[in-house]
Amino acid sequence: MTSNSRRDHWKGIILAGGLGTRLHPITLACCKQLLPVYNKPMIYYPLTSLMLGGIREILIISTPRDLPRFEDLLGDGSQLGLSLSYAEQLEPRGIADAFILGRDFIADSPVCLILGDNLFYGEIPFLRTALARSAGATIFAYAVSDPQRYGILGFDAKGRPDSIEEKPKEPRSNAAVTGLYCYDNQVVELAAQLSASDRGELEITDINRHYLDAKELHVEMLDDGVTWLDTGTPESLLEAASFVSTIEHRQGKLVGSPEAAAFKMDFVDSEQLTRLATAMGSSQLGSYLAALAKGSHS
Ligand code: TTP
Repeated sequence: MTSNSRRDHWKGIILAGGLGTRLHPITLACCKQLLPVYNKPMIYYPLTSLMLGGIREILIISTPRDLPRFEDLLGDGSQLGLSLSYAEQLEPRGIADAFILGRDFIADSPVCLILGDNLFYGEIPFLRTALARSAGATIFAYAVSDPQRYGILGFDAKGRPDSIEEKPKEPRSNAAVTGLYCYDNQVVELAAQLSASDRGELEITDINRHYLDAKELHVEMLDDGVTWLDTGTPESLLEAASFVSTIEHRQGKLVGSPEAAAFKMDFVDSEQLTRLATAMGSSQLGSYLAALAKGSHS
């Protein structure tokens, strides 16, 4: 059996298309997920999350206009010890379209999808717990102060999830569904059978409801050790940049660095990391990575 066909071998997808209308005019000529979040392109952050979960085979989906820019940025991924592939989404047909476009890539593996504009920072074991499950789906919920804006979970008396509502007027909880989803291989068939919603999209919520009804939906509440930010509006983009800058300066830790993640996960050795650092020229990030390669940063 090849590594591609192992049923426990997780594949990753980063969905990085869409219209980014809430960021117009910034996104009229450049897609959202290539915009800077402080000192790195946005896609570095979700890419780093997948890598810290141990995922090395990753498909990046974007628009025909933007996909070549992602290829310029990340290539085949071998410099990071990854195998990256690319697929075009011709129209923003919805998040669940990722599993239709990614069908061949996924083959018979389980798959972890992350939205290209979602930034997770903090204790990452939460993802590893989900990846240790061989059946069903795992989604990640985060307590928010404005639940009317999100997909919100409801729970029964025993604390088990029993509903998901999109942008509810009267939310049953403040547990918002984040843009990170882990599914067993059933998701490929489920997505193929979906019909478009009233807003014309293949909804990820419909997939999650299917797992919920089958009692195969696990919900992991992200606790205080994790910060979840989305970067879809000018305010949230600025907040995310300030957050990264604050952590990096005050704590001296890198946030969302695929190079540092590759080193941490042993996908690359110190010699390869030094090469990645050199390629960053005189940037502060390059100096940090060079020091990491020499063992001067933990
Ligand atoms: P959204 O934020 O829902 O959509 P958007 O990015 O197009 O932004 P706006 O609402 O401002 O127009 O999308 C969430 C993420 O999923 C984002 O990274 C874009 C991506 N996406 C796709 O790649 N294809 C799609 O069909 C959809 C719906 C989203």
